[in-house]
Amino acid sequence: MKASDLLQVARQLDEEILDLFPESAEASRVSLDLDRIGLWSGLNRQLYGHIARRSLRLADARQGLKVLDACCGRGGLTRYLWSRLSRTREPGQLDVYGVDWSERHIANATREAPAIHWLRRDMFQSGFASGEFDVLVCSQSLHHFTPAQIPQLLREFCRIARDVYVFDLRQTRYGSLWMRLIAPFFSAEFIHDGLVSHRRALSVEQVRGLLREHALPYRLQTFTPLGMLLEVQS
Ligand SMILES: C[S@@+](CC[C@H](N)C(=O)[O-])C[C@H]1O[C@@H](n2cnc3c(N)ncnc32)[C@H](O)[C@@H]1O
Repeated sequence: MKASDLLQVARQLDEEILDLFPESAEASRVSLDLDRIGLWSGLNRQLYGHIARRSLRLADARQGLKVLDACCGRGGLTRYLWSRLSRTREPGQLDVYGVDWSERHIANATREAPAIHWLRRDMFQSGFASGEFDVLVCSQSLHHFTPAQIPQLLREFCRIARDVYVFDLRQTRYGSLWMRLIAPFFSAEFIHDGLVSHRRALSVEQVRGLLREHALPYRLQTFTPLGMLLEVQS
């Protein structure tokens, strides 16, 4: 299928290219732009700063550390975390993992940063042991899951990691306006997926309701003008 056809199908179905065609060159372009925006908007830096303040073991270079970026895409945030953490640690003291179910994203990520452990896995069948990670991060991915899957995923994160940080877009009135403003600087595929994401994003109240209904131990706060952050520390 030609790129223009594929975008057309995604538009008609009002679904994200990342979900419909995760192994396509177009999904690869979306994930590359996601990496660019994570750096360019300062999101990676803000997330790292917040996590380092809350999970002090990140700053303690004497401790070994195992970190997972779940649903990592092409791994822009994973690489950012690795570059910050590896400055103060010996190689044997740090293990950073990036997991995504798209073979294409994992192949791209592996080429860019071979020092990170990249795994192609479904986060619902990750095979990780309980408490295997010190810190788990998941960014911009929650809205790819259904309301029935979200509690299951959040529970799984708490099972495999001691500290968990989940950032996602939240429902705002200006999300789509923001996507239209930045459109000249990014691919048409990324802008399409971004517009769908902002329409699909849950509101803070909806997430609060899910946490309460399923007795999940996350604290929730708004984070950045367009996002929210769920967190748990051991
Ligand atoms: C919007 S992207 C976010 C990528 C990255 N975290 C970032 O911030 O750029 C969502 C990612 O979730 C991945 N994904 C969706 N469902 C998944 C699952 N069940 N297991 C693993 N990865 C999944 C998709 O392949 C996609 O790369």
